[in-house]
Amino acid sequence: MMTIALLLALSYLLGAIPTGLIVGQLWYKKDIRKFGSGNLGATNTFRVLGKNAGIFVTIFDVAKGVLPATFPLIFNLEVHGIWFGLAAILGHVYPIYLKFKGGKAVATSAGVILGVNPIVFTIIAVIFFTLLFTTRMVSLTSILTSIANFITTLFFDDIILKIISFALMVLIVYRHQSNIARIINGTEPKISFKK
Ligand code: G3P
Repeated sequence: MMTIALLLALSYLLGAIPTGLIVGQLWYKKDIRKFGSGNLGATNTFRVLGKNAGIFVTIFDVAKGVLPATFPLIFNLEVHGIWFGLAAILGHVYPIYLKFKGGKAVATSAGVILGVNPIVFTIIAVIFFTLLFTTRMVSLTSILTSIANFITTLFFDDIILKIISFALMVLIVYRHQSNIARIINGTEPKISFKK
């Protein structure tokens, strides 16, 4: 029980590491919260700091979800990995280091799904990139993929994954309120695939 509590706390603290902010301040002397969408996630890192920083933050933020989600395998525990993953996601969205003002849960949630069910992850990765190439809006793609993720989990025999995926869908939609407003009024920025 003690181990589980400690690992939940560790997962939260790991998820709370504000990768985009650290990369921006350390290597680019820029606070990404003051530019672009103001978010400290991977998308805004790409937008404000460019491709290299964006790729680094994407990988790190996904890893923040994968690692805790695999704690039960690593430590041989009879607990669903999604609980540790959820702690990491809550850390990412509500980080103690930044007065609980964090990201929009997308990359870390993707990492958690990868850690707990690589098949669901593969399906939603295909959906994500198909939507991204079609809409060219990361926010809209993220929202729709979170819905697709919940629907996909309905076909799997894992009630906890279904429930948490539903909660993640709600959380992701909630965290994208400003994006939704911009999508509706036609001002949400689109990404370009040209170099
Ligand atoms: O990962 C968050 C993404 O869906 C939207 O980011 O910076 O465009 O608000 P942003």
